[in-house]
Amino acid sequence: MAKIIDGKAISAEIRGEIKEAAAKFFEENGYRPGLAVVIVGEDPASQVYVRNKKKACDEVGFYSEVYELPESTTQEELNALIDKLNGDSKIHGILCQLPLPKHLDEKEVILRIDPSKDVDAFHPVNVGNIMIGEYSFLPCTPAGVMELLYRSGIEISGKECVVVGRSNIVGKPQAMLLLHANGTVTICHSRTKDLSEVCRRADILVAAIGKADFFTADMVKEGAVVIDVGMNRRADGKLTGDVDFASVEPKASYITPVPGGVGPMTITMLMKNTLTSAINHNK
Ligand code: GUN
Repeated sequence: MAKIIDGKAISAEIRGEIKEAAAKFFEENGYRPGLAVVIVGEDPASQVYVRNKKKACDEVGFYSEVYELPESTTQEELNALIDKLNGDSKIHGILCQLPLPKHLDEKEVILRIDPSKDVDAFHPVNVGNIMIGEYSFLPCTPAGVMELLYRSGIEISGKECVVVGRSNIVGKPQAMLLLHANGTVTICHSRTKDLSEVCRRADILVAAIGKADFFTADMVKEGAVVIDVGMNRRADGKLTGDVDFASVEPKASYITPVPGGVGPMTITMLMKNTLTSAINHNK
């Protein structure tokens, strides 16, 4: 029987700490950490994410602005908004919700955001800082995974860590953070030969490939820590991770559920980055 890592509880604990720090920041400086969230178009999933980000800001006592722009927004209009937010001293974090409508250039937007306000940590400057281990901002999902491991008392140093998935947002930075924590890290992807064999070596397995219930018990070592970053919808509409929880849970020592594992941590880490940015801008 695995211990279930309760992402909701850990997230609530961290939000409590951030709220306290934000109150202290306000007391000392007379203004609040501020986040601007930009959404273009009407993608329903993105609208839910943006609403949750605004709610999280209210919960921890941050100032926030939400810009809901129409689908017809041009690159020039979006660039102008980012320029305005880059120069706005009330705003310490800027997040442009992705994906953008097809006629807009995501890369251009990422490059335009001032790296010191890039609380997603998507700008190449921040990506580079992650590589060398000197960073202000960590990408929210991998940072959330690290907090789950730390706060569950899981040792990383010297452990075999297998990250499955090599996206710029999750897999690659996740591998780097585990490496900085002295894990022995392997990154797997769609061309990996004998994925099961590599996964079975893992003391810590991070599943981030976006395939429902893909990782089964035969791919997991007895006693492994299994972190499920997946968020997939089954044909019956139910939310599920990349890990087949029912078969893997009895074999793992620790496991994250979906929902209620990594998911709740992501926005919490966004709050943490926004607080960090406000503190840095105040220096
Ligand atoms: N869309 C889905 N996840 C994210 C995220 O972490 N940041 C941004 N900007 N857009 C997203």
